[in-house]
Amino acid sequence: MKSLSGFDFENKKVLLRADFNVSLGDDGEVDGKEDWRLKASLPTIKYLLDKKARIILMTHLGRPNGKFVKELKTDPIAKRLEELFNQPVKKVDGYEVKEMKDEIILLENLRFNPGEEENSTQFAKELSGLGEIYVNNAFGVSHRSHASIVGLPNLLPNCAGLLLEKEIKALSKVLEQSEHPLVVVIGGAKISTKIKVIKSFLNKADHILLGGALANTVLKAKGIDVKKSVVEDGMLGEAKEIMSNPKIHLPVDWVESEQMILDIGEKTIKEFKEIISSAKTIIFNGPMGLFEKKQFQSGSEEITRAIVESEGFSLVGGGDTIVLLENLGLLDKINHVSTGGGAMLEFLSGKKLPGIEILR
Ligand code: 3PG
Repeated sequence: MKSLSGFDFENKKVLLRADFNVSLGDDGEVDGKEDWRLKASLPTIKYLLDKKARIILMTHLGRPNGKFVKELKTDPIAKRLEELFNQPVKKVDGYEVKEMKDEIILLENLRFNPGEEENSTQFAKELSGLGEIYVNNAFGVSHRSHASIVGLPNLLPNCAGLLLEKEIKALSKVLEQSEHPLVVVIGGAKISTKIKVIKSFLNKADHILLGGALANTVLKAKGIDVKKSVVEDGMLGEAKEIMSNPKIHLPVDWVESEQMILDIGEKTIKEFKEIISSAKTIIFNGPMGLFEKKQFQSGSEEITRAIVESEGFSLVGGGDTIVLLENLGLLDKINHVSTGGGAMLEFLSGKKLPGIEILR
């Protein structure tokens, strides 16, 4: 895999794939607490500007499923980048750049085009015509075989951006040298998006602590009445395969509201904290409950504090998890904060990420 230093960027048009997938506030703007993914890309953009490159930025935003969704246009990202750089960032409406002056260009949300997720060669060709060198700085989406991630580097000279390199270095260290006990704390909404990594971690981790709505599906598979809680019924079969593994720890009690499980309970918090306190390495992705509401925040907060207080090396990733840590003012107490959620878990579970492999 090549680095930025292997190229002469002077006057070259650089297609820089970033992961600017951030949550927008109610006013449709990038929330001050949500711009960490933008800030993480700044060193690479600055490097390219210093080398006199002309930069075309590309990102996805949300999951519009190949259709135009007004609320997911990339305009608020361009606006926030301008504030962070103090330099013009021109947002174009589609994927065409007619002329480039002295500004940075940001294309429209790549996922408005169905070709992005379908990894269409035609869409990749369309994008490749805009630039001369491709840089992948989008660690958070490098687990997806999408046109801008795996199609483009097939068509252009390519290399990794500084953020991608930094993530690979930090995560490889954990992957190769993690000390045991290795404890993985996984929460969030959907088990369908995390079941594969949970299974892979069964070979590597000593304990896997499950919370959040994704634990409901496993509880239901065990025959527990989860009432009206969020459950993925299509995943009950897969949940049965892991539910009795001694490494898997499920909530034993919970906080309920309107017949829905919305946080882990006190006994669970105590058990999870004990396991975390003896960990030498802790990987954390996904909150333990509906932490956005104060009355269901306690599980996520207590587990986060236990991770921070533990002497083990801590690694955190995923949008919600980072917002949780930021809200608690604990983000700087974590040893490595990854810009990837799913990508971080897949990398650490030992899977090869297509967006990284293609750069080799
Ligand atoms: C993320 O938020 O984890 C990345 O931007 C990838 O987004 P995706 O899960 O919608 O592909």
